[in-house]
Amino acid sequence: MSGTSDKEFYKLFGYITIFIILLAIIITILSKVFASSVTNDNYDTVKEKATEERLLSSEKINLASNPTFKTEVIEVSSTKSGKDIYNSVCMSCHMSGAAGAPITGKVDQWSERIAKGSDTLYNNAINGIGVMPAKGGLMSLSDDDVKLAVDYMIDQSK
Ligand code: HEC
Repeated sequence: MSGTSDKEFYKLFGYITIFIILLAIIITILSKVFASSVTNDNYDTVKEKATEERLLSSEKINLASNPTFKTEVIEVSSTKSGKDIYNSVCMSCHMSGAAGAPITGKVDQWSERIAKGSDTLYNNAINGIGVMPAKGGLMSLSDDDVKLAVDYMIDQSK
């Protein structure tokens, strides 16, 4: 008598175990399908939103450390001053001296460069020099934007 109910117990136990395992597999599959469909549907919107936010806060973020910014078209409005452009694009290197950049405001680091003349500095800032990428890495800047920023830097450093 007790042998039979043990057998039945193990049978039932076996079924329940299999049922739970199947359930786990189904949930895993469903969640994968669901997750990937959500990602695909929303990817563009999410990306657009993130880009928009980045544009809005372009003055607060460190553009040079953002590996994606070079491929994105970031509009820096032409009404921006040299100071604005400097703050959003150039400051990341030129405030700290990262990668050997001459530090804005340090007269001794700039006097020799300033002596080369503004046109040379403009050209080097626009085309890049040494480790410095052309236009500080933000190719959507116009040449005039870069010149404004250079003027600002020179002004702060003499
Ligand atoms: C990724 C870091 C980085 C960013 C961003 C950056 N610079 Fe530079 N910059 C440098 C470095 C490094 C040098 C020194 C290069 C050398 O002399 O070899 C330099 C040098 C310069 C010089 C001196 C050039 C010369 O002929 O002596 C100017 C002017 C200048 N940068 C302007 C700018 C302006 C304007 C921006 C923003 C639009 C900017 N930089 C953004 C790294 C940077």
